[in-house]
Amino acid sequence: MGRVRVAVTSKLPGRAVEWLEERHDVRVHDGEPITDEDDLIAFLGDADAALTLLQNPVTDGVLDACPKLRIVGNCAVGFDNIDLEGARRRGVWVTNTPDVLTEATADLTWALILAVTRRLGEAERFLRGGTFHGWALDMLLGSAIQGRQLGIVGFGRIGRAVARRAKGFGMSVATSDVEELTDPEPSAAWMPLDELASTSHVLSLHIPMSGENHHLMNESMLRRMPRGSFLINTARGPLVDEAALARVLAEGHLGGAGLDVFEHEPEIHPGLLHRDDVVLLPHIGSATEETRAAMAELAAKNILAVLSGNDPPTPVVRPR
Ligand code: GLV
Repeated sequence: MGRVRVAVTSKLPGRAVEWLEERHDVRVHDGEPITDEDDLIAFLGDADAALTLLQNPVTDGVLDACPKLRIVGNCAVGFDNIDLEGARRRGVWVTNTPDVLTEATADLTWALILAVTRRLGEAERFLRGGTFHGWALDMLLGSAIQGRQLGIVGFGRIGRAVARRAKGFGMSVATSDVEELTDPEPSAAWMPLDELASTSHVLSLHIPMSGENHHLMNESMLRRMPRGSFLINTARGPLVDEAALARVLAEGHLGGAGLDVFEHEPEIHPGLLHRDDVVLLPHIGSATEETRAAMAELAAKNILAVLSGNDPPTPVVRPR
């Protein structure tokens, strides 16, 4: 019997490819990320397993054109690039990489909270622009977070890790997530989303992207946020109506926004790009050497498990 084929859509850090190569025939895509369905089909071809990135559109059409696939091992905690129902129907496992990126993503969320409330991007541009002529009492004043409420939308692994850090900054925590509160650690007050939005000084998004969450932060929800408050998004871009966010910011309603993800990534809404009250990062929530290696290795472990007839450690779709 021939060795099974694993198609890896990107070069990977850590030992992931080495582990896969010990047991299987592996091909690794080397070049620009594959964002087109036909290109993905051409690359995956007759593979038995695919190790994918979040830019790879694993649509119904792709699954149809690659009938040998037994597993799609996404190297990301998010899986909105994969047609889960299509995979389930065809008996294809889908896996993701939770846990290993929780702390890195929570750290980056806090980096954004601090950057936007203390105007760090703007301050650095000010200095590099040669306009810093000495300390001044009223220069670049930010907004205090101590004693204020951090609203966490989505109290799962990452939301809770963000909540744990809030204690160190003296913020109280509230969430709108009922299910996850059955085991509330760290503690958070519960309130419905519209109340959470209207009472939080900083509102941070930590829910997965799905059809029903599209534009969860629409214009009316953004307008519910208190004047001078801040929106943080390290989850997925389409959770926020970016055009509405740009309008609300332009009116001076919000204090600012810290965004690591975008609605039409990698495009950035022109109404956000040049604003000083917005901190924009290029989707680097989990981007540490250690975390990215751990993600790639977990994706490989999922594939190795399925190809040897075992359950993968972190399934999203279980085909049987
Ligand atoms: C990154 O956005 C991920 O889903 O892991």
